[in-house]
Amino acid sequence: MSHGRFDNPVVASLAGFWDRFRKQEFESRLTENDRFDGRTILVTGANSGLGFALTVEIARRGGRVIMGCRRQIPEAGEKAKKISGSDHIEMRQLDLSRIGSIHEFVNGLVNDGVRLDITILNAGVTPPKARKTESGQDEMFLVNYLSNVMLTNLLLTANVIDLSGQLAAFKPRILFISSDSHQGSSYIDYEEFGRYLDYGVSKAIANYSYFKLVLNTYATELSRRVNHDELKAGINVICPGPVNSNIVREAPLFLRIILKSIFSIIFKSPVKACKPVVYLAISPDFEGRTNEYMHMFREKKMDFKVYLPEEGEKLWERSVALWELIDEKARIIDTLGVSENEYPEGIRK
Ligand SMILES: NC(=O)c1ccc[n+]([C@@H]2O[C@H](COP(=O)([O-])OP(=O)(O)OC[C@H]3O[C@@H](n4cnc5c(N)ncnc54)[C@H](OP(=O)(O)O)[C@@H]3O)[C@@H](O)[C@H]2O)c1
Repeated sequence: MSHGRFDNPVVASLAGFWDRFRKQEFESRLTENDRFDGRTILVTGANSGLGFALTVEIARRGGRVIMGCRRQIPEAGEKAKKISGSDHIEMRQLDLSRIGSIHEFVNGLVNDGVRLDITILNAGVTPPKARKTESGQDEMFLVNYLSNVMLTNLLLTANVIDLSGQLAAFKPRILFISSDSHQGSSYIDYEEFGRYLDYGVSKAIANYSYFKLVLNTYATELSRRVNHDELKAGINVICPGPVNSNIVREAPLFLRIILKSIFSIIFKSPVKACKPVVYLAISPDFEGRTNEYMHMFREKKMDFKVYLPEEGEKLWERSVALWELIDEKARIIDTLGVSENEYPEGIRK
């Protein structure tokens, strides 16, 4: 049975608190010279918390931001424009719990000729109990994990993220927003992989950190596949540390009051928490680098299981098989064993 590091939300929050006091080696390296001018950046889950703060900060630094959101359209975008002082912000409908919405979102980008320089997979959800999506999976599994497999593969196969070298001056970057709570989660359980199982609050917390381990393993495997012969994209993972966001909005009332009190007193504001993500997204320090992990402004290793090639390969195969089972429009990037001149046409449909 899969298991995350925590099954108690208060303990999980307090663990995040101690992380705040660890030395942040690279904090001073992010400067006002780190700008996004001429770059197009997708932020998923951009209407709230960390994603909203990222949108404002990236737009303020000259980037064109596409906010992929399921609600608060256009209010959140208008608010972000006002705070950042930039008009280069657009909102697009994206509900990561609905496969059809993911396709519509990507098709919209293709039709409008959008090319993404930086893709920040930020959206996340923590329902207090299992919830079934219309395609039959648990919502947290789909939103926090499998939708990111779908989205990255669709964006890559449609060349919205272009690996062909046309953006040679700047290799595309893909950032997965994760959590250091993934450390110590169990091995991926393929018996229950993608199966809908009922659970309550304690298992929800455990699943949250476990699905982050699954996500990090996927990010590592994606990096391995995309960059198997040369570096085509920087595919990296970051934990923003404890953020005073809306992530516990669905916790039972009593628990929410306790957690929100902890969050507002000792967690970082989204404005502050987004800075290391901005650094990883644009800093020249990460040019030519992939499969890196940052915990706030510290470079770190992920859980050792994330790096095991056999784990990555198995996860890839099982994820693809599940996606093909539930979605006849699945399109999977096939980079392994494809010779250079076939790429990027060497895509398997
Ligand atoms: N808060 C922390 O302490 C902390 C620590 C480590 C990592 N993180 C990670 O940081 C990321 C951002 O979370 P946050 O703390 O900023 O929480 P948040 O304020 O709740 O933001 C989460 C975002 O994800 C979106 N989202 C949820 N379900 C979605 C769906 N089906 N389709 C599209 N978007 C969806 C939410 O949209 P709605 O407003 O429509 O729900 C919201 O915009 C998450 O990946 C989280 O795991 C957070």
